[in-house]
Amino acid sequence: MAEQKTLLVIGGTSGIGLEIAKRAAARGDEVILSSRETDRAIAMAAGIGSSASGIGIDCAYPDRIAECVADVGHVDHLVLAAIERDQNSVKDFHVGRAVYLSTLKLVGYIETIHALLPKLTSEASIVLFGGLAKDRPYPGSTTVSTINGGVTGMVHTLAVELSPIRVNAVHPGIVGDSPFWSGKPAEVLEGYRSRTPTGQLATMADVADAVEFLLRNPAMNGVNLNVDGGWLLT
Ligand SMILES: NC(=O)c1ccc[n+]([C@@H]2O[C@H](COP(=O)([O-])OP(=O)(O)OC[C@H]3O[C@@H](n4cnc5c(N)ncnc54)[C@H](OP(=O)(O)O)[C@@H]3O)[C@@H](O)[C@H]2O)c1
Repeated sequence: MAEQKTLLVIGGTSGIGLEIAKRAAARGDEVILSSRETDRAIAMAAGIGSSASGIGIDCAYPDRIAECVADVGHVDHLVLAAIERDQNSVKDFHVGRAVYLSTLKLVGYIETIHALLPKLTSEASIVLFGGLAKDRPYPGSTTVSTINGGVTGMVHTLAVELSPIRVNAVHPGIVGDSPFWSGKPAEVLEGYRSRTPTGQLATMADVADAVEFLLRNPAMNGVNLNVDGGWLLT
């Protein structure tokens, strides 16, 4: 049986972050999950079990993050999954939305790690979430494609700067059972599935499994891992 760890999931109230939190709690890990709303985080954590707790963090307001994590104890595993997607294009560019999302991921993720540094153990590991919109843009993905590309560089610099703490990222393709995609029209999902060599879209469980591998395997460091069933090859 794996040693018990303390896992903090930023953006742990929905989708893949929630899946990761649930699986860790079921394994016996201590879990802290975050939401922009403290009450929501506490309620979602209560639903997971007595080893889970919730905190409020809004990554789009990096100046406030340090005080939000002040009461967190030591952290072995840190997952940054937070996202608030925008629809944006260069031809119809909304600066406010772009600044919000860019700040959330590119500044908020780093500031969260910075604020947590005294709490991270020397054997700690971090997984950041990017996504394959960085390589395969879709209409309206201008900001999403850009920030996901930024996560690749973030992994490289942080893995060097934070040594011996390990830093990796997952870049999912279309996660068919995630809340964002599962409600889309069947023909949209089928279009993506039919172009995936495995004949299956990645699931939230598939992505959580990849995250657990990156968190626990001591040789994984500085890696940007695609989790897409080979979608990018077609
Ligand atoms: N789903 C996919 O197919 C897919 C594909 C590629 C990449 N990804 C990446 O995978 C990660 C998880 O995606 P998902 O679809 O599972 O997410 P999701 O269901 O949309 O959940 C997003 C989470 O982020 C939190 N959040 C939103 N705005 C925030 C902010 N300003 N500060 C802090 N937390 C915030 C939300 O919590 P509250 O609402 O409670 O605040 C929620 O827990 C994301 O980073 C996404 O880019 C997903």
